[in-house]
This record gives sequence, C-alpha cells and structure tokens, in this order.
Amino acid sequence: MALQTLMIKLTPLLILVMSVHSHAIFESSNWKYAPNKGSVRAAYWPSGDDLAPSSIDTKYFTHIYYAFIQQHPQSFNLVITESDKKWIPQFINGLRYCYPPVKTLLSIGGGGSNSTAFSIMATTKHTREVFINSTIHVARRYGFDGLDLDWEFPNDEIDMSNLGILFQEWHQALVLEAKISKKPRLLLTAAVYYASTIKLIGNGLRSYPVQAICNYLDWASPMCFDYHGTWDNFTGFNAALYDPNSNISTHYGIGSWIGSGVPAQKLVMGLPLYGRAWKLQDPNVNGVGAEAVGEATDTDGTLDYDEILVFNKENDATVVYDDEAVAFYSYAGTTWIGYDDGPSITKKVQFARFMGLKGYFFWAAGKDKDWTISRQASNAWGH
Ligand SMILES: *[C@@H]1O[C@H](CO)[C@@H](O)[C@H](O)[C@H]1NC(C)=O
Ligand SMILES: *[C@@H]1O[C@H](CO)[C@@H](O)[C@H](O)[C@H]1NC(C)=O
Ligand SMILES: *[C@@H]1O[C@H](CO)[C@@H](O)[C@H](O)[C@H]1NC(C)=O
Ligand SMILES: *[C@@H]1O[C@H](CO)[C@@H](O)[C@H](O)[C@H]1NC(C)=O
Repeated sequence: MALQTLMIKLTPLLILVMSVHSHAIFESSNWKYAPNKGSVRAAYWPSGDDLAPSSIDTKYFTHIYYAFIQQHPQSFNLVITESDKKWIPQFINGLRYCYPPVKTLLSIGGGGSNSTAFSIMATTKHTREVFINSTIHVARRYGFDGLDLDWEFPNDEIDMSNLGILFQEWHQALVLEAKISKKPRLLLTAAVYYASTIKLIGNGLRSYPVQAICNYLDWASPMCFDYHGTWDNFTGFNAALYDPNSNISTHYGIGSWIGSGVPAQKLVMGLPLYGRAWKLQDPNVNGVGAEAVGEATDTDGTLDYDEILVFNKENDATVVYDDEAVAFYSYAGTTWIGYDDGPSITKKVQFARFMGLKGYFFWAAGKDKDWTISRQASNAWGH
C-alpha cells in the first residue's frame, strides 16, 4: 500500500531503481543485457605494491590506474617523487606489452592527499592552467593513456562549482593537445563520492557539478565503499549494496547519481577488495551493529581480501553472508570483519550491469587472492 502511493509520485527512472531491490529481477537469466562495448573493468594499482605491474592478469581488466601522484601544494605542478621515478616506468613498461592490452591512467590525489591544495588550485584560471598543463606533460612524457582526479573531497559548493570549471578547461586542453600531437586524446576520469551529494563529511551539503561531469569526463567512478568503519563505535559493512535503515548503500548512491542526471553509461562503480575490522566490546555480541571499541588489534582497521581469508582460516572464524545487505562478515574472538567475497561482488556486478553502468573498478589490484574475485567479477559482467 505504502509502496503504491510512492510509485505514483516517483518518476519511471526511480521506479526502476527501486524495483531493483527485489533481487530476483536482475539475477534472472532471462534478462538480456545491452551489448558490452566500451565497458570498463578497472583497478587501481597503489604504487610500490608487492604486486609487480607486469604480473597483473589483464584478462580481467581493461584499465589500470597508477595510484597516486600528487600536485605541489603551492606551484600546482605535479610532483614526481623519487618513488614515482622508480615506479611509473615499471608500471608503464610492465603493462605496455601485456595481452590482452589495457589502458593506463595516471591518478592524481587519493584519500591521503591535500584537499585544500586542490581547492586553491581549482579557484583561478591561472592555477588550473598550470595544473592541467603539468598533468598533460607528465602523462605524455611517460606514455599514459589518460588522467584521473581523486579529490577527496570538494569541501563546499564553491569547490564543486570550480571542479566543474576545471573539468571543462581540462577537457578542452586535452582535445587541443590531441589535435596538435596527433595522438589519441588522453582520457579524463574522476573518482567521486558514492553519492552525487556529499552529506556525511565536511562542510554540509554540496552536490557534484553534474553537467560538467556529463560533458567533459569519459566517466566518473563513485567510490562505493568506506560506508562503515572503526570511526563508528558499532560493527557494520564496508560496502553494503542495500541498507533498509539508511541511505549509506551502493543502491542508494548509484541511484542518486543517475537521479541527478548523469547517464548510467558514464558511471563506473567502485568495489572494495578490502574489509574493515573492529574489536568487539563483547565477543558474544557479534552481529551487525554490535558494540565495538575501535580497531581490531594489529591492523589500522582495514584488511585486504587475501588477508581476511588467512585470518578466517587461521582463527577458524565464523563466516556469515548477509543476503539483505549483500555483504559478508566474519568473527573470531573479539575481532569482527565486514567485507566482500565472490558471491557479494558477483551480485554487485550484476546490479551494475542491470543498471546499465559503464563498468566497475576495484580498490585495489594486489589485494585479491590469485585473481579469484577479479575473475568472478569479470564473468558476472559477461565479458
Ligand atoms: C596543503 O595545501 C595548503 C595549500 O597550499 C598548504 O597551505 C598546506 O601546508 C598543505 N598541507 C600539507 C600537509 O602539506
Ligand atoms: C599551458 O599550455 C598551453 C598550450 O601549450 C600554453 O599556451 C600555455 O601558455 C600554458 N600555460 C601555462 C600557465 O603554463
Ligand atoms: C556510541 O555512540 C553513540 C552515539 O554517539 C552513543 O550513544 C553510544 O553510547 C556510544 N557507545 C559506546 C560503546 O561508546
Ligand atoms: C534518504 O534519501 C532520501 C532522498 O534523498 C530522503 O528523502 C530520505 O530522508 C533519506 N533517508 C535517510 C534515512 O536519511
């Protein structure tokens, strides 16, 4: 009854988004997907990772991002550190002759980067131009196929508006450079908040510049993870697909992006290859939402997928699949871990396909166990 009332008020688009909640729809084998051309199966490669770029199994990927390079906080030129000097050539050369081929993108920023410096850079035409020129210079010098911005996060409406101008000028500069150099235009992408409006962190409500994203980016990549972590004093999922009690879910986030006017074909959905681990207040109270007292010992609160498998095995952990959230958790003693495994990743990728998205990406290559999840995701995508 309540649902009927809602349906009348909502646009057809939202009805589609809502109806996905009955899982059966997008899991049905009768569902015919649109052709899969130009789709994206991507992963970030954190520089210096144990995994050598040359050993990335590119069967499962179309694009790999180098993560991360930083801008200088005053000059706004990209800074190539000693470590970048070592890793960028290994990255490019390691992936240059791989089969099947992948495209490489240089990602600027990341979670630990200086958000204020992005804000200042984006404010004036001159500083944007210095930054843009530097990104093109570095990308061409090393042979990248594209550029990616991971600004976490624009802090207010002014930042969001300047971000839109940055995208426009950046795109124009890339088009011009391609004409002059007679090379294919560098791709331009951005990692963005899981939802189109940032609510929960920083300075109040601010929405992404949707029109600029549509016009000037090849795609935007909502980071559909980090929903709950040890900053909460209760256990929860890192990346629930659904949450009946809140808007902190991938279903809500992707729906908000499409609802804001960004075509599904411009969205590449984030998937985590890591979980988050709490120390339980009471080992006998170990469900979702159980009281917790900070990070599980010996981790900073995150555990890579391959490490979680080892933890579960060594500690004979209880593993639970939450069908409603489409996520896993495991616990042993006072340690509680919320994470994703093959079946939840598969359902999320099916969701991305059903929604008509351009693709998905992982944070990060090197956290998988023998490409198990990467393979299952690729299969679910229907590659
Ligand atoms: C971040 O950038 C701002 C603006 O340029 C600068 O004032 C500040 O010192 C930087 N912070 C760090 C930690 O480098
Ligand atoms: C940026 O590059 C363009 C094209 O090469 C050039 O005309 C312009 O002067 C450069 N701007 C700055 C601030 O370096
Ligand atoms: C957790 O946080 C909530 C809200 O801030 C508070 O009411 C509750 O007492 C806290 N619990 C613990 C165990 O700290
Ligand atoms: C979720 O988002 C919708 C639409 O943006 C809003 O109306 C609703 O109040 C939100 N729900 C919660 C629990 O925040």
